[in-house]
Amino acid sequence: MAAATQVLGLDLANPVVVGSGLLTDQERNIRKLLTTGAGAVVTKTIHPNPPAGLDERIIRLPTGMINSTTYSKRSVSHWMDILRGLARDRLPVIASLHADTPAELAELAARAAAAGSRALELGISCLNEEDGLHDTPERVHAYTEATRAAVRVPFSVKLASGEGLHDRAFAAARAGADAVTISDTLPAAVVHPETGDLRLGGVFGYSGPGIKPLVLASLWQLRRTGFTLPVLASGGVQSGRDVHDYLGVGAVAAQVYTALHTDMYLTLARIVAETAGPGSTGRGAGPVTEAGRSERVRS
Ligand SMILES: Cc1cc2nc3c(=O)[nH]c(=O)nc-3n(C[C@H](O)[C@H](O)[C@H](O)COP(=O)(O)O)c2cc1C
Repeated sequence: MAAATQVLGLDLANPVVVGSGLLTDQERNIRKLLTTGAGAVVTKTIHPNPPAGLDERIIRLPTGMINSTTYSKRSVSHWMDILRGLARDRLPVIASLHADTPAELAELAARAAAAGSRALELGISCLNEEDGLHDTPERVHAYTEATRAAVRVPFSVKLASGEGLHDRAFAAARAGADAVTISDTLPAAVVHPETGDLRLGGVFGYSGPGIKPLVLASLWQLRRTGFTLPVLASGGVQSGRDVHDYLGVGAVAAQVYTALHTDMYLTLARIVAETAGPGSTGRGAGPVTEAGRSERVRS
C-alpha cells in the first residue's frame, strides 16, 4: 500500500503528485486531479512577466514529448484569487512560481503565502525562454536565498538534471530550500524529416519516459554524495512501478506530468491505484540494489 506521506509540510494521501504544466493551468483541472486521487498538485508556473510572442507548442515523440512552452499567461492577481480559494478548502496544492529576478520572485512568493499557499515550488529551471537556461549554483543560490528571506512556508527548488546538478542542488540546500524537485524538462531536439531543420526552431524541453533513466541516475548519484534534503522526483512516470522506482532511490514523492496528456484523469487514477496496489511491493519496487539491477538487465 502506498503510504500517506508528508511533503513540504502538506499531508498527502499518497506520493503521486501532479507536476506543473499546461494541465495545471486551470483551477477546474487542479480540483478534479485532486478528487481523482492525486496526493497533491503543482500549479502551472505563475510568473509576473511571462514572455509574450513565443511560439509555444508541443511535439509528441515515441519516447515522450518536446515542448516550447514557458509560464502561465494568467495574471498574478487572477492566480492569487485561485490560490486563495484552494487554500480556503485546505487542498494540497503547491504553487509553482518564477520571476525575472530573485527580488521579484521573493515578492511573488510573499503574495502567494499571503493568499494562503502552504507550499511552493520555485520553477526556476525552464529552458524554453528565448535565451535558454544557463543555470549555475550562484543563480540557484540567489533565487533560493531571496525567497527564503521573504517567506516561512516550505518550498522546493526545481532543478534540471544534467551537468552541475550536484552543485546546484547543494546551493539550493545551503540557501535554505526545504526540498528540491528533480527534474525539469531536459534540452533536446528533433529534425524535421522533410526540411532537415530542427522542429520548433531549436532546442527545447524534453519530457516523458525517455528521461526517466537519466533522472533516476541523477537522484541515485545525488544521494550517494550525501545530499539529505527531501527530493521530489519528476521525469517519465507512467505507472506505479515508476513511482516506486523513484521512492526506491530516496525520493519522498514522484510527480507525473507528460503521461497525463493522454486520458488525463484515467491515467492518473491508474497510476495512483498501481502505486497503492499489491503489485507495487513486488520485485524491483524497492530500493535499487545490485541484485535488482542485474535481474532487470536479464529480464
Ligand atoms: C507541456 C509542458 C509544460 C510544462 N510546464 C511547466 C511549468 O510551467 N513549470 C514547471 O516547473 N515545469 C513544467 N513542465 C515540466 C513538468 O512539470 C515535468 O517536470 C517534466 O515534464 C518531467 O516530468 P514528466 O516526464 O512526467 O512530464 C512542463 C512540461 C510539459 C511537457
